[in-house]
Amino acid sequence: MTTTIDRAEEEKITDSSPKEMGREESLTIDRIKAKQITVGVVGLGYVGFPLSLAFSEAGVQVIGFDIDESKIQSIEQGKSYIRHIQCDRLHEVQKASKLEVTTNFQQVANCDVVIICVPTPLDHHLEPDLRFVVETCKVIAPHLKPNTLVSLESTTWPGTTDEIVKTILEKEGGFTVGKDLFLCFSPEREDPGNKSYGTKNIPKLIGGTDPKSLELATALYSLALDKVVPLSSTKVAELAKLFENIFRSVNIALVNELKVICEPMDIDVWEVIEAAATKPFGFMPFWPGPGLGGHCIPIDPFYLTWKAKEYGISTRFIELAGEINRQMPKYVVGKVQDCLNVFEKALKGSRILILGLAYKSDIDDMRESPSLELIKILEEKGATVDYHDPLLPEIGKTREYSHLAGRKHQELSKNYDCFLIATKHSCFSVEEILSFGIPVVDTRNFLPRRNELVYPA
Ligand SMILES: NC(=O)c1ccc[n+]([C@@H]2O[C@H](COP(=O)([O-])OP(=O)(O)OC[C@H]3O[C@@H](n4cnc5c(N)ncnc54)[C@H](O)[C@@H]3O)[C@@H](O)[C@H]2O)c1
Repeated sequence: MTTTIDRAEEEKITDSSPKEMGREESLTIDRIKAKQITVGVVGLGYVGFPLSLAFSEAGVQVIGFDIDESKIQSIEQGKSYIRHIQCDRLHEVQKASKLEVTTNFQQVANCDVVIICVPTPLDHHLEPDLRFVVETCKVIAPHLKPNTLVSLESTTWPGTTDEIVKTILEKEGGFTVGKDLFLCFSPEREDPGNKSYGTKNIPKLIGGTDPKSLELATALYSLALDKVVPLSSTKVAELAKLFENIFRSVNIALVNELKVICEPMDIDVWEVIEAAATKPFGFMPFWPGPGLGGHCIPIDPFYLTWKAKEYGISTRFIELAGEINRQMPKYVVGKVQDCLNVFEKALKGSRILILGLAYKSDIDDMRESPSLELIKILEEKGATVDYHDPLLPEIGKTREYSHLAGRKHQELSKNYDCFLIATKHSCFSVEEILSFGIPVVDTRNFLPRRNELVYPA
């Protein structure tokens, strides 16, 4: 991991450890309430960037940290790299000098609170990859001043805060958590693109390692967020977050299974779900699709699967849901094949345009998107595939689909044998899509069903 350290800045900040500098002023509830604190946010991605803005907008001084120079430069130039976060918000907090950003981790010594929002992916064996959390803890530990509150927000298995974060901070920083360092877990529940709920009005769960940590963290998050929910331990907070995402994964798998059953029965699964949703209690609608995407739902459930093994317990619901959801792109490719058959065309040699690269509507995030898997399978079967997504002009670097990097958004045109709707962006127009007279495989119930060009999948 690289951290840029500007020499002059380094001398200005510290040439001895924060402990020796006598910066032990206690972090008290009164200081927090008076906003006489500096909050550091480590990891300025989909979670950390809006969180930094939320604290800055509440009048708290924020220092944002990232190892990605390009993100730091964008923020410094007043540019938001996340589509649903308007630049105006950034300009306002910059005008008020409430947000500065850096790659220099020595500035951690100037923070009273450090919030960790780094990625928690899976490795190739579907096991937790905590390397970003571990590296962050090791990098910040030597710079933390006594009495700092550290909050982990990255989604992870129950026990991480106590077993990993606490251990590293104590070992590398020479602290005793609960005495001269405070620690909590507060899961991020951000739903990018959600117009009703954002960082500020999503209730914030908090579990502390000890009563003082919980008290400080509750006061801290109350500064910027509408509602905080204190819990009895960090493990409860960690598992509550996993449970929310497991609940979604299992229910999405259930409707995907229902979709597959409905097809040979000639029943419209969307109508079935809408009908069931008229029940005013005991039912919540979930919708089928081409598979799961995003940094959370396809990944987080396996953090519990991994931890459960330590107790000799297998998480059958989670694994079955993962299996069904991972099969969906293959099912959709089968539907593309069926559609082309109607027109006496083979998949091999056909030209297919996938509409929507992002994993869900109206966002510019393609992480784990089923569209990437669809491109891969279709091309393995000999099709030529392009994508159409005005929100994502180019495919960026991904671990699993590195060969797709650099491909560019293509316009709708009649040069294709089939369109495949994978994501329903609101900028898509039914009329325009149908105007080309090309068959469309629709995984999102976007187009009218009773149209001879439309093939639900
Ligand atoms: N994206 C979501 O919608 C969402 C929702 C809820 C929870 N979460 C969880 O929040 C966490 C962060 O997710 P995200 O979507 O913001 O990830 P992201 O990839 O968008 O952002 C993470 C940022 O951390 C930076 N980073 C990586 N290692 C670092 C280090 N050692 N020091 C400093 N910065 C470092 C990266 O450069 C990146 O900018 C994950 O655990 C995720 O599961 C995400």
